[in-house]
Amino acid sequence: MISTGIVCIGLLIFNWQMGLALLWVAPVSFAIVLCSRKWQQKLGKRHMEARIELAEGIQECLETVQDIKACNQEEAYLKKLDAKMDAAEKAQISSELTTASLITTGQMFLRLGLATVIIVGNSLVMKNQTDIFTYILFLIAASRLYDPLSGAMSNMAELFGVSLQVKRLKEIEEYPDEKGEKDISTNGYDITFDHVKFSYEKNKPVLRDVSFTAKQGQVTALVGPSGGGKSTVAKLAAKFYPLDGGKILLGGKDIEPLDSTMLMKNFSIVFQDVVLFNNTIMENIRVGRKNATDEEVIAAAKAAMCDEFINRLPQGYQTVIGENGSTLSGGECQRLSIARALLKDAPVILLDEATASLDVDNETEIQNAISRLVKGKTVLVIAHRMRTIEAADQIVVLADGIVAEKGNHETLMEKRGLYRKLVDLQTESVNWKLS
Ligand SMILES: Nc1ncnc2c1ncn2[C@@H]1O[C@H](COP(=O)(O)OP(=O)(O)OP(=O)(O)O)[C@@H](O)[C@H]1O
Ligand SMILES: [Mg+2]
Repeated sequence: MISTGIVCIGLLIFNWQMGLALLWVAPVSFAIVLCSRKWQQKLGKRHMEARIELAEGIQECLETVQDIKACNQEEAYLKKLDAKMDAAEKAQISSELTTASLITTGQMFLRLGLATVIIVGNSLVMKNQTDIFTYILFLIAASRLYDPLSGAMSNMAELFGVSLQVKRLKEIEEYPDEKGEKDISTNGYDITFDHVKFSYEKNKPVLRDVSFTAKQGQVTALVGPSGGGKSTVAKLAAKFYPLDGGKILLGGKDIEPLDSTMLMKNFSIVFQDVVLFNNTIMENIRVGRKNATDEEVIAAAKAAMCDEFINRLPQGYQTVIGENGSTLSGGECQRLSIARALLKDAPVILLDEATASLDVDNETEIQNAISRLVKGKTVLVIAHRMRTIEAADQIVVLADGIVAEKGNHETLMEKRGLYRKLVDLQTESVNWKLS
């Protein structure tokens, strides 16, 4: 652009009439491409959105292929995916065709300059206002000058497209970083919920008013109907979401202003939905504590009853387990996740249905491992099987976003409230028979 600009200025100084005849087309051609910028970007954005939707569709299809097949929804689902593919294709064609037509129009217009050089040059030579040498010089310039200008025009259109993507990246980049106090010295590790209110979506409160204290050195169990907010309570304790009202204290200190990463050092968490990485078993457990030695990893695996099934695998601890543990059973994934939490050995332990997909034998052994681990720690456990929490020091019953009852097993059984009902229902279901 710079060298072409210098040549243009030189030509204008050399002979302004011929220079104008040569260059008047350039601003008009650029104006055609520039003025259509909004239009090009609108189509480019539509193309990008269609592509994102298609990518999400393919991802969803891959993740849910088992359920789609199990529900005989293959045909209907693929039809929808086809429609998304068509939409992306159409959006791409219309975006690229429009841009290409506009650029070609601009470039064609540029070539008109050659005609004006011939007309103006001819008439100037006839009138003897310029010599034939200058005329030929400008004809050569016309044949050489338009190529870099055409190139610049295509690059400009390309930049419009890129600017859309840059904008999208900036949106991600400018997402505010979570900041907080790095110093998180607390006085012990009691967790206190103080009139906590919380909702994922506006006007749909999940927790309306929840207050309880999970004491250090004790096991606090959360029970209640499905959807009552138990997992939410565990996530809030680790500051996964900001509250709508009330406070959560760790060792008497409000966790709201604290830095999440530092806070997380105090938590060992086993979530309801286990996440494993496509890596070896050894590394998957080591996620709990990066600098743990192989011996420590194996000790944690033994405590979480993983050792036996790991040794059955072809490469033992070095076996790669596939995306999210796709080559393992649900119970095995859960045990790996428990091993990871045992390895981290943090002062606060959150177990969300940690033993839900284990058989009774394993469950008891893991319960033993956990009870060894929990000495002196704050443990918040969410269990669906009432039997596993009978020995908890405190049981908090969550229903409809409030604490319906709290106490230990005996007092709650005597109270004959919601807890008793849940226990009785489960005892009944154990005696169910298929007939
Ligand atoms: N990420 C989310 N976005 C919006 N709503 C959510 C989200 N997670 C949970 N919910 C809603 O919040 C409510 C409480 O969910 P939560 O997972 O805490 O229940 P739960 O007591 O753990 O249930 P379960 O016993 O089935 O695990 C439910 O009504 C659920 O639909
Ligand atoms: Mg849950």
